[in-house]
Amino acid sequence: MRKKIVAGNWKMNMTPAKAVELIDSLKNEINSNEVDVVVCPPFVCLPAVLEAVKGTNIAVGAQNMHFEENGAYTGEIAPSMLVELGVKYVIIGHSERRQYFAETDQTVNKKTLKALEHGLVPVVCVGESLEERQQGVTIDLVRLQTKIALKDVTAEDAKKVVIAYEPIWAIGTGMTATSAQAEEVCAAIRQVIAEVYSKEVADEVRVQYGGSVNGGNANELFNMGNIDGGLVGGASLKPEFASIVNYK
Ligand code: PGA
Repeated sequence: MRKKIVAGNWKMNMTPAKAVELIDSLKNEINSNEVDVVVCPPFVCLPAVLEAVKGTNIAVGAQNMHFEENGAYTGEIAPSMLVELGVKYVIIGHSERRQYFAETDQTVNKKTLKALEHGLVPVVCVGESLEERQQGVTIDLVRLQTKIALKDVTAEDAKKVVIAYEPIWAIGTGMTATSAQAEEVCAAIRQVIAEVYSKEVADEVRVQYGGSVNGGNANELFNMGNIDGGLVGGASLKPEFASIVNYK
């Protein structure tokens, strides 16, 4: 039985002080061990957030990292820097990074491999644009994104990966995918993992849905057979995040 995982992607929001306030308001509401809970603040908020979540079951993730160990990459963050702080997860290939920061399926693959090498859990984002959905290529595209992201990842490591299916048209728009649409694509992701590895691996990999998840729709989405939780943007900046974690 896969454990659900709900992660908050704060994007470029909050300051260290505001981050601590948000964690303080969430931590008494988030106390079940049934769901893995992750918050992904901006890099500069990580130390304050790691301190603030001590003694809670909230884990901390980063929103990105470089695939090199270190070197002349101005403005970038290396995996070892995250690990030393106590970060456990890292979002890889969010559509905003693909769209605005030239992230490609190939850099997503390099980052996924590097995160695993450092013991970080990669939350690999895949998903189609509205045009791609209308053209009917969603499943083909998401299968390919998933396959390339996992190139050279061993079966043992693949089990640790979290895939976040995030239709771009649903991100920040309030246009949530229906539970049937989300389930169809999450099932297809599990299917491609079974083809590349095995049913055993596919049964262990957690596949999240992301895109306008909120306190009102989390229950229906997370109760679908192939949806193992959510990657939450806007609603993760508010106390509402607790009601998404406590969706049952
Ligand atoms: P949203 O963002 O919940 O604000 O739609 C989701 C995401 O981008 O991860």
